[in-house]
Amino acid sequence: MEFRRIGILNIGEMGYHWARLLAARGAEPLTCVAGRSEATRQRCDEAPVRQVESLERLVEEADLVVSIVVPSAALEVARSVARAAAAVKRQGLPFLEANAISPMTADAARAELEGGGGVYVDGCIIGSARRLETAAVYVSGPEAERLAPLRELGLPIRVLGEGATQASAFKVVYAGFTKGLAGLLTELLTGAHKMGLLEQILERYEESFPGLPGKASGSITSLRLHAARRGEEMAELADTFRHAGLEPVVTPAIERLLKAVAAAESGHGPKHRDELGSLPETVEGFVEHGLLAAHDEGGDEGKDR
Ligand SMILES: NC(=O)c1ccc[n+]([C@@H]2O[C@H](COP(=O)([O-])OP(=O)(O)OC[C@H]3O[C@@H](n4cnc5c(N)ncnc54)[C@H](OP(=O)(O)O)[C@@H]3O)[C@@H](O)[C@H]2O)c1
Repeated sequence: MEFRRIGILNIGEMGYHWARLLAARGAEPLTCVAGRSEATRQRCDEAPVRQVESLERLVEEADLVVSIVVPSAALEVARSVARAAAAVKRQGLPFLEANAISPMTADAARAELEGGGGVYVDGCIIGSARRLETAAVYVSGPEAERLAPLRELGLPIRVLGEGATQASAFKVVYAGFTKGLAGLLTELLTGAHKMGLLEQILERYEESFPGLPGKASGSITSLRLHAARRGEEMAELADTFRHAGLEPVVTPAIERLLKAVAAAESGHGPKHRDELGSLPETVEGFVEHGLLAAHDEGGDEGKDR
């Protein structure tokens, strides 16, 4: 087995399911929780993953390191892995950057990693963490084929092309569709609930677009857990378009909507998927927590004018 020990940074929702799949196929997932939250530490304790005490130890032992974090942490993770590899003189360590980040962030991660002597492979994951067997892991760049043996471990690797950061560009554009749809529906359903029309409009959507409310439901209810991370993904997409000479209109609006959900749910949010409610319950919760509530910026003073 070419990739026996696989370092996973970190054990979030997706990392947890990678660890389970890899362990079930006979590989040994490793991680390092130094500096991580209680939620991640707890997930690590429940996952079939060996925890090592430092990143240096992890890069010494691993045959491959996979970065599966929030977009805002992707560069930091690549940099830390590069530093740890340089510190222990580990050359040629393959590194899969699997996050939803712009090609520019990916390129910065590549530069860090290669600067530390590692082998960068740009990648992304499309599909649900809980149904990893049906998901796809896209990879691109000159070293992409090196990850083909991961297929033996149940990871559906698809080589996208030669471009060093092509997989990242592909992912953020894809993410724009799923997060965009969830964001649009969140706004519409919040409004419908306010007007006492939630049930009726969901029925009408189902009639006009059979299966759509059911398909979109999971990506709306799970906003209670992941709205902040998805907002970051939309920021990466907007940057990608700007870099390509475009001025996006819808993407920044979706980013704002997702950040507003994260703010509204802060302190109310569940810790785990099992705690998520139905779509109507979720929308009701959004309204209760003040999502999209118009603010009376002027206060009493404003009313007098
Ligand atoms: N969940 C899915 O179904 C799904 C589907 C497709 C793709 N993905 C991709 O998977 C990636 C992760 O998503 P997720 O759902 O697993 O997110 P998540 O549950 O929020 O987990 C993110 C993990 O990253 C860790 N992290 C944050 N900052 C870090 C840092 N500076 N250094 C090291 N680790 C850090 C977090 O630790 P703390 O708890 O300490 O913050 C947490 O363990 C994203 O790129 C996303 O696009 C996820």
